[in-house]
Amino acid sequence: MSQIGLFYGSTTGKTEDIAERIQEALGDDVVTLHEISEAENSDFEQYDNLIIACPTWDIGELQSDWDGYYPELDEVDFSGKTVAYFGTGDQIGYADNFQDAMGILEAKISELGAKTVGYWPIDGYDFNESKAVKNGKFVGLAIDEDNQSDLTDERITAWTKQLKSEFGL
Ligand SMILES: Cc1cc2nc3c(=O)[nH]c(=O)nc-3n(C[C@H](O)[C@H](O)[C@H](O)COP(=O)(O)O)c2cc1C
Repeated sequence: MSQIGLFYGSTTGKTEDIAERIQEALGDDVVTLHEISEAENSDFEQYDNLIIACPTWDIGELQSDWDGYYPELDEVDFSGKTVAYFGTGDQIGYADNFQDAMGILEAKISELGAKTVGYWPIDGYDFNESKAVKNGKFVGLAIDEDNQSDLTDERITAWTKQLKSEFGL
């Protein structure tokens, strides 16, 4: 079994594309991808290390497949698990709700017992409000394919390097 389970939802394919690029950066044998629309609670429970990925939709809301799964999370035992998060969003179009979904999921899953790793600086972004900012940092990697796709490669490289150390791989 691989060391990390990466669970993602994606409506127009951008988050799915980033999930594949993160899998490639960490190693195909290290990361297994799970689309949240097809996931079950037991899929989460087999991993000690998780990456949770969600774009923000509908002005500050979870992507629809994650929205459907959200009530199920209460039944997953996250205690002892180490979890990293990434989101995709649009900081220009939705500056008051940039990456909110990542913050909503991190708050929930932490409350259920998981430890968060993979915090990311807010420098280099231009937005007003985000539920994904805690103690002056994003709770995970913020990707903006709508406005800053030119920065995505270097962000993925830096964040996955950080994760290797924080997951202890
Ligand atoms: C109708 C609509 C609402 C959106 N709302 C937000 C939002 O509130 N916050 C945000 O950061 N991005 C928002 N976005 C941008 C998407 O999150 C972004 O395009 C994302 O990469 C889409 O991911 P997906 O292709 O994996 O579904 C919105 C986009 C659309 C079209």
